[in-house]
Amino acid sequence: MKVALVTGATDGVGRVVARRLASQGWRVLVHGRNPERGAALVREIHAAGGKATFLQADLAALAEVRRLADAVGRETDSLSLLINNAGIGSIGDAPGRRESADGHELRFAVNYLAGFLLTHRLLPLVKAGTPARIVNVSSAGQQPIDFDDVMLTRGYSGVRAYCQSKLAQILFTIDLADALKGSGITANCLHPSTYMDTTMVRQSGNTPMSSVETGADAIMQLAVSPQLEGRSGLYFNVMTESRANAQAYDAAARARLRQLSLELTGL
Ligand SMILES: NC(=O)c1ccc[n+]([C@@H]2O[C@H](COP(=O)([O-])OP(=O)(O)OC[C@H]3O[C@@H](n4cnc5c(N)ncnc54)[C@H](OP(=O)(O)O)[C@@H]3O)[C@@H](O)[C@H]2O)c1
Repeated sequence: MKVALVTGATDGVGRVVARRLASQGWRVLVHGRNPERGAALVREIHAAGGKATFLQADLAALAEVRRLADAVGRETDSLSLLINNAGIGSIGDAPGRRESADGHELRFAVNYLAGFLLTHRLLPLVKAGTPARIVNVSSAGQQPIDFDDVMLTRGYSGVRAYCQSKLAQILFTIDLADALKGSGITANCLHPSTYMDTTMVRQSGNTPMSSVETGADAIMQLAVSPQLEGRSGLYFNVMTESRANAQAYDAAARARLRQLSLELTGL
């Protein structure tokens, strides 16, 4: 049985994706912060005849990210699908600039850096699960990274922080796809859908415009569609291959982000 990990599976679009993968015969490791929601999802998947295990971790602390990677390693010897989906929106639980447990700007930490570290820690398992896919759930909301103030100590806005973290995921995806060429592992990213009816969108005060099913269709395409076999380093706008912000195609910016991320995560 092939094993998938979906981060941020306790709510929103991740929850739908986890259920779909389980119904297609995957064993799904479902991650989130909230144990009650995690247990409820596992019960739901089991009741439908699927296999799932909940793994709890707060991605706002790099120590927890490492702990999550270790927990995945205790659950399985191989991972054929990793979906980095967990994230916080422009407002989250509270407006204003916040920092992670490690002193990093919170959206950069949770939406990007946690996935960077998790992916690197899980690569041996993903290599053991080839052919394997990595899917990074980014957004159409993208803002170039200001390398002079990555932690947004000046001119902070929640939207800017969110959009910077989402573009960082795209730079990472393209960089990772290059590094994994010929390994049997592909890495792609996407904007799942605009203003899906989820907690993040409701917290940010935006009016939902699409359903989680639409976003789940887009994520599932990158995760399992035969058309995407062997294709890597791509950005999709929902179902359509598209171009991200220009910074994603700037090799020097990608190298700079990689170097910074390796330093910040101690890899
Ligand atoms: N909604 C949209 O329209 C939209 C548009 C573009 C991109 N996206 C992207 O799609 C992804 C999913 O968004 P969504 O709308 O489904 O969000 P959501 O309903 O708010 O769910 C977010 C998920 O991430 C988890 N999470 C949040 N902060 C976390 C932390 N510090 N540590 C661990 N887990 C954490 C949550 O866990 P808990 O259940 O424990 O809170 C939850 O499972 C995000 O990456 C988002 O940026 C969404």
